[in-house]
Amino acid sequence: MNLIDLPASASDYVPFVRRIGVPILDLALVHRYTYTYPNFPLYHTAYETFHLQKSFIDPDFQFHRLMSQLWGNVALSLAESWILPIDPSEYADTVQEMYNWLENGYGDKFEGSAISLDALESAVANFSQAAMVFEEELSSLGNETDPLVARMYNDQLMQMERAFIDPLGIPYRKFYRHTILSSGLYTTDTFPALGDAVRRMGSDWTDPGKADKLEELKEQLSIITFFIQSAANTLAKPASTVF
Ligand SMILES: *[C@@H]1O[C@H](CO)[C@@H](O)[C@H](O)[C@H]1NC(C)=O
Ligand SMILES: *[C@@H]1O[C@H](CO)[C@@H](O)[C@H](O)[C@H]1NC(C)=O
Repeated sequence: MNLIDLPASASDYVPFVRRIGVPILDLALVHRYTYTYPNFPLYHTAYETFHLQKSFIDPDFQFHRLMSQLWGNVALSLAESWILPIDPSEYADTVQEMYNWLENGYGDKFEGSAISLDALESAVANFSQAAMVFEEELSSLGNETDPLVARMYNDQLMQMERAFIDPLGIPYRKFYRHTILSSGLYTTDTFPALGDAVRRMGSDWTDPGKADKLEELKEQLSIITFFIQSAANTLAKPASTVF
């Protein structure tokens, strides 16, 4: 079971992550094991009032207090972290899973249309490799490291998220620009724009009537390859040789 999911499509953090590439965290206490609907039943209705909270949902405000304490600790630990708690390998694993989903589900279709996934596979591998090397370098930093060196690594970590932002936006949803985390119209299983393009192809990729859609799909394959490689380059900058 995933305790941490990829950010979904319907909350206030969406413009931060999907438009400008700011890493986000959404903390929530949910009735997952009590109700099938994860929020309380009157969520986002006119009945969502103080009275409701006080009388039914959280009479002693225990959960409210817990969440405030949790956020307080998260904020403190973010502010105090010498190196930002962003995990490039975890990110690389997610990108790899998206690739696997695409390859397992549609590999034969790509092959049948003579479209090679090699470049995308290579970019995904390069990103994983860059994340691993980056973390190795980080783990060898002592706490006596020059603050400017720490700053450099932190900048790289922040820029990694920005590297996925396509200034031209995701096709048909131009407000979104994050090429990994603007989950598809239907699911979060794969690269959003490429995933949408794949689904638009339907089951028969050889239908000549779909030539335009196939061109779109090839374009999205190139675009996602470019952005993953650029994220890899952001991490791979040989930081240790600069000083
Ligand atoms: C991955 O890295 C290798 C080695 O630097 C490079 O030759 C290759 O072009 C990179 N892949 C992509 C898709 O840029
Ligand atoms: C730095 O690390 C050393 C060894 O772990 C530890 O003894 C020392 O207290 C640390 N210094 C600071 C300022 O955290």
